[in-house]
Amino acid sequence: MALAADHAGYPLKEAIREHLLNRGVRTVDLGTNSTESVDYPDFARRIVVAVLEGEAERGILICGTGVGMAMAANRQRGIRAALCHDHFTASAARRHNNANVLVLGGRILGRDLAMEIVDTWLDTPFEGGRHESRLEKMDEYQVRVERRKGKG
Ligand code: RB5
Repeated sequence: MALAADHAGYPLKEAIREHLLNRGVRTVDLGTNSTESVDYPDFARRIVVAVLEGEAERGILICGTGVGMAMAANRQRGIRAALCHDHFTASAARRHNNANVLVLGGRILGRDLAMEIVDTWLDTPFEGGRHESRLEKMDEYQVRVERRKGKG
């Protein structure tokens, strides 16, 4: 599991890293490592690269609201980043959307809720079936748009 955060997400990242360690989950910490101001796209990119290149199976991203990290991560095909503020969304994000990146708002979530969301997201499998073809459609659409723009 790869973890990254900006300065606003740093304290929650540390708590999640410890939580995962206690659960026996192997983690790769991709920063940031203080509350000094940094730019969230730089850290979203680290997770995107780690997941797409297979260094980590999945990733967790944290900024103040989670919004910027989710926007930045989801620009990359193959990344399905889910911004979750509750247990139900975290569960559905795995069951229906096969989310490979969990995004959290460090300035929004209390610790207990954040750990509940992380555990749910970790422990819930993808249901496949009808959801598989829906995910494929997202990629197909993106490929068509890229071709039209002359990228592919
Ligand atoms: C940083 O102040 C804040 O803008 C950032 O953490 C995040 O919430 C952006 O979406």
